[in-house]
Amino acid sequence: MNADRVFPPQFLWGAATSAYQIEGSPLADGAGASIWHEFSHTPGRTRAGDTGDVACDHYRRYRDDVALMRTLGLQGYRFSVAWGRVLPEGRGWVNPAGLSFYQRLVDALLEQGIEPMVTLYHWDLPAALDRLGGWLNPDSAAWFADYAQVLFRALGDRVKLWVTLNEPWVVVDGGYLHGVLAPGQRNPFAAPVAAHHLLRAHATAVQAYRAESNQQIGLVVNLEPKYPATETVEDLAATMRADAYWNRFYLDPVFLGSYPPELPEIFGAAWPSFSAADLALIQQPIDFLGINYYSRQVVSHDPTDWPLAAARVRQPHQTHTGLDWEVYPQGLTDILEWVSGRYGPLPLYVTENGAAFYDPPQSAGEIADPLRLAYLRTHLRAALAAIDKGVDLRGYFAWSLLDNFEWAHGYSQRFGLVHVDYATQQRTPKASARFYSEVIRSHGAALATDFSTERAG
Ligand code: BGC
Repeated sequence: MNADRVFPPQFLWGAATSAYQIEGSPLADGAGASIWHEFSHTPGRTRAGDTGDVACDHYRRYRDDVALMRTLGLQGYRFSVAWGRVLPEGRGWVNPAGLSFYQRLVDALLEQGIEPMVTLYHWDLPAALDRLGGWLNPDSAAWFADYAQVLFRALGDRVKLWVTLNEPWVVVDGGYLHGVLAPGQRNPFAAPVAAHHLLRAHATAVQAYRAESNQQIGLVVNLEPKYPATETVEDLAATMRADAYWNRFYLDPVFLGSYPPELPEIFGAAWPSFSAADLALIQQPIDFLGINYYSRQVVSHDPTDWPLAAARVRQPHQTHTGLDWEVYPQGLTDILEWVSGRYGPLPLYVTENGAAFYDPPQSAGEIADPLRLAYLRTHLRAALAAIDKGVDLRGYFAWSLLDNFEWAHGYSQRFGLVHVDYATQQRTPKASARFYSEVIRSHGAALATDFSTERAG
């Protein structure tokens, strides 16, 4: 990399978290339970029965965490609001104590000069709404827009970057198709319906936002570029199906007004028909798109895989993370270019990117995490390569600020730039956090420094 290459001056450098993964105290001050609270308290659903009851205790330690962000030099912080803290029943009564937590958090961030990016939905639907059918209920779009409006009114004067949904793909795939995430349904007939109502909810919230404010609102999707294992007709078709299901399912309707043609083939009789009015609604213009990028997939045709008949071909010579995800930085450049070309040009943020690796114990007060550091370095270079190719990338949020509750994997996987000792709640920045600070301080010039200099500072 050319040592002089730096990121644009306005580039926003941040880190991301989500409410259920870090806050703890899920029922404090009158909050209503979420589907994740109920799911994690159901035996057998999460690894070792782990729950978000304590997590990183961020609900009580948020001031210290904001001070830590400041120490690290972060300019932006992406977090999510727990819907059930604000509306314990999911709709109706607004709980001032829950709302006050997010008001205090935003104020603390702004006092430190850190730009908040607020995600309205990061998977923790109020359990009371799930009992009414959750995302399968057509009313869910209106519930979501009403909730969003409460937040826009409470925080709209201070928050300039809003995200409606985090990764609708995961909500649908894990929550309604395979049942490994809350609410734990495994039903091909449910999945397309949930997907459609999530998109209606997104669009209805965007409409509500336009009536209240004129800053920026967008959507966050997880994208994973697909590459065929071979050039056979079968593998190429499988790659198209995987691409439709993962990458175009939510973006085609938002930007192009229709679902990808492969989806009826994948879902068969379970694929419903959707009204033209809904599809027009879903096409609300948005101000930016957030992309969460972790890995790629090399795809081969596999009739035993359900429902895609498309299997991942593991690349044995590549580095894999603790979750067995292939480390593939080039995929970030590729997917950013692909999104800009297909749907843009449009402002983009990398709203999540990071890696779970085993972290060795502290030695001499340092936590050396060379694999995470290398992941960060190579992916930031890949982001810069996309900018060089003309992609309008406005910022980057590392996943994650803190080690946290990794959903069904519980606390077994650590994604943090900052280590969390769950017994004491002590936070210790890892070498990757020190490196990231240096990258931010130098606008990216530190990405060019020699690997031999990588140590905790
Ligand atoms: C989610 C995060 C999650 C991360 C790592 C993303 O899919 O938004 O909540 O922790 O990936 O799995």
